[in-house]
Amino acid sequence: MPTNYQPLTDELTNLAGSAESTEHLMTMIVERLQELLPHYNWVGFYLLDEDENGAEPMLVLGPYVGAETPHKRIPLNQGICGAAVTSAQTVVVDDVNSDPRHLACSIETRSEIVAPVFVNGKVVGELDIDSHQPAAFTDDDRQLVEYCARLVGRYLETAS
Ligand code: SME
Repeated sequence: MPTNYQPLTDELTNLAGSAESTEHLMTMIVERLQELLPHYNWVGFYLLDEDENGAEPMLVLGPYVGAETPHKRIPLNQGICGAAVTSAQTVVVDDVNSDPRHLACSIETRSEIVAPVFVNGKVVGELDIDSHQPAAFTDDDRQLVEYCARLVGRYLETAS
């Protein structure tokens, strides 16, 4: 982990050890990330809802901080959010205005990172972060965001 993010990841790791529920852990992660990192303007989790009755799988908005988004349920074939889940990979977009997949939450958003949450190798959700700065997310941010997504995945693995 990059040294500048180490104290935050240590804190979040400790929080994961004492969180009362997955919801609680996700809430603490989004709040701390937004409090400590000024370029993280919108921070939220989406959870994958795979309806067993044949309805289309959806990403459903979970805990978040930032502007209210109209995208509370996202089909997997839409958005950067859908792309991260279907590819099972972190997606970083330096300029959302030049990416036709982007679903806008705020006109101020310029760049975005989405990291999948895995449970036993399967994608169950994702951590989505928007910035008002273009190309805001470096490789250090990718490591931090993937670490936070892993904390939630591990928590779910232990809880189930
Ligand atoms: N920008 C995302 C949608 C989520 S909102 O920004 C919070 C996307 O393109 O999938």
